[in-house]
Amino acid sequence: MKIGILTSGGDCAGLNAVMRGIGLYVYQNIPGAEVVGILNGYGGLIRGESRPMRREEFEGILNVGGTVLGTTRTPFKMMTVSEEDGGTRLEKMRANYRKMELDCLFTLGGAGTHRTAALLCAEGCNVIGLPKTIDNDIYGTDVTFGFHTAVDVAAEAIERVRTTAASHGRTILVEVMGNKAGWLTLYAGMAAGADAILLPEIPFNIDRLCERVMQNVREGKSGCVIAVAEGAVLDSEAPFKRKERAFIRVERGENTVTNHLAEVIGERTGTETRASVLGYIQRGGSPSAYDKVLSTRLGSYAGKLAAEGRFGVTVAVCGNTITFNALADIAGKYKFVDPSSEIVAAAEGIGICLGR
Ligand code: F6P
Repeated sequence: MKIGILTSGGDCAGLNAVMRGIGLYVYQNIPGAEVVGILNGYGGLIRGESRPMRREEFEGILNVGGTVLGTTRTPFKMMTVSEEDGGTRLEKMRANYRKMELDCLFTLGGAGTHRTAALLCAEGCNVIGLPKTIDNDIYGTDVTFGFHTAVDVAAEAIERVRTTAASHGRTILVEVMGNKAGWLTLYAGMAAGADAILLPEIPFNIDRLCERVMQNVREGKSGCVIAVAEGAVLDSEAPFKRKERAFIRVERGENTVTNHLAEVIGERTGTETRASVLGYIQRGGSPSAYDKVLSTRLGSYAGKLAAEGRFGVTVAVCGNTITFNALADIAGKYKFVDPSSEIVAAAEGIGICLGR
């Protein structure tokens, strides 16, 4: 059995650990198995770029951040567009899948990667997806690998900022990644004891937010910390589409929602205000112990699916069980924070302001 592996989309902790799970399972349990790594995501499959991955390579990568295969973002909507030579990217991928004589392809990626994986399946390729992203927004799985490591990193950063906010009596806003889904901000903010948490799923009211800052002042608490998702939305912006909002912000000369908010809060509350954008610090580095275990379970399970000849699926976590969903059922869907869920109620129940 000849097996291909690719990693696609933004990197995160656990990509190498998942590949290790797949590789070690496959070499241990499928006699005569051969594994090749496709370089730089779907781009490598489009161009036919791959390299062999021997068993020994997988042994040393459990702890290694990023992806040893490289990755790219290859937009789903471009897959079926004809290129200059007349062929589509999808046709090229299918042709290279055949040329490489693959029996199965593992695609490690987020929601976009899964959409393309479903397309490849429909074209007759044997694909098994694995749910990667710090955003935790893949439909049909309780959790994605990389998420909890990013939560740990972001929570530690917010916690550290909290001591500076307290020492200086400042209001500090910390921007956390997550354009469409606020899972990372919600978990990191709660884990770090933030006073307010702003999510893309819950448009916030600036007056309520300023009121929360003033509450700390009135109660004599030194400083205030606000965790802001990069995709957080003012209630006045809520009627607009994401791209329209981005355009309006650029027109207003705002680089991020967080810097703009820091200015407004400073003016309105009279507190000394600062903003801190965490950026890629949240994506890089070694996986946490939780993610190493999860990645190993997901990779090993995916290897077992291949051994059983079960394709057209993506591995998922349901409660404490590893299971799978049909790619066709989850492709194009997202998992967002439900504003009426227990976790949101728990945060608001202890006085964390969600801006509503
Ligand atoms: O999808 C993961 C993610 O980290 C998002 O949270 C973030 O909005 C985006 O990737 C950043 O993407 P890029 O790597 O293209 O800057």
